[in-house]
Amino acid sequence: MKLFTNKKKLQREIKNINNISFVPTMGALHRGHESIIKKSVRTSRKTIVSIFVNPKQFENKKDFNNYPKNNKDTNLLKKLKVSYLYKPSYSDIFKFKTKNKIFLDQFSKKLCGKYRRGHFKGVVDVVNRLLEIIMPKKILLGQKDFQQLVLIKKHIIKNKINTKVISCKTIRDKDFVAYSSRLKRLNNHQRFNLVMIINYLRAYKRNLLLKKITHNPNKIKKRLLILGAKKVDYVEILNLKTLKKPKKNKFNLFFAFYIGNVRFIDNF
Ligand code: PAF
Repeated sequence: MKLFTNKKKLQREIKNINNISFVPTMGALHRGHESIIKKSVRTSRKTIVSIFVNPKQFENKKDFNNYPKNNKDTNLLKKLKVSYLYKPSYSDIFKFKTKNKIFLDQFSKKLCGKYRRGHFKGVVDVVNRLLEIIMPKKILLGQKDFQQLVLIKKHIIKNKINTKVISCKTIRDKDFVAYSSRLKRLNNHQRFNLVMIINYLRAYKRNLLLKKITHNPNKIKKRLLILGAKKVDYVEILNLKTLKKPKKNKFNLFFAFYIGNVRFIDNF
């Protein structure tokens, strides 16, 4: 695996490779990333992974500074047979003028968009810059961050960027908890509460599907607080295609809540 911290050198290296797949990350790699990267390595000639903790997508400095880091990332990527690791500095990413204009679809105003001001603009900005630098044939993104995935896809389509978005399924542990970098910050008690909440939400979805109950956001929010969430941003049901409230019985339950200071999002 070759490591690059400078975009010019990276571009020189990859300019003649036309089947390159790209997995953007912020490091602190876990089983979810591992699964996406394995898929990429399996299905393309070369895989490039980026590790860059993007300050523009954090609403506050404390959250940015607390974002988990892991010095085992590089070894894991070597083991997974990644061809290139791009670990840029802030200026390598942000000190150039982009070709494309950031396109933020209306969907950015829903779900996390209501609670994290500027977050999706920051995400689309950095991913656009990475795409302009790398020009990959494919970008692989996880479904856990479904809203991010949709917004990146809409930006790519609007700007006619020649990169295909590959959506990758969420990887869960034995308790059905989706792997996430922030989980490393939970203590045992908080982890126990998280598992209780996820179990509760699964049962809630089952009952919605069986039409034993109707969706009641306020009631379910209160329930999650009793089960140990410190704050609940939202619990909503959306159809994955229309991105609206479901007309039929086809939907995912989307949620975001805090356990201690750790924000957890998922959908199933
Ligand atoms: O999902 C993430 O880790 C980040 O939002 C991404 C896509 C790497 C952009 O910084």
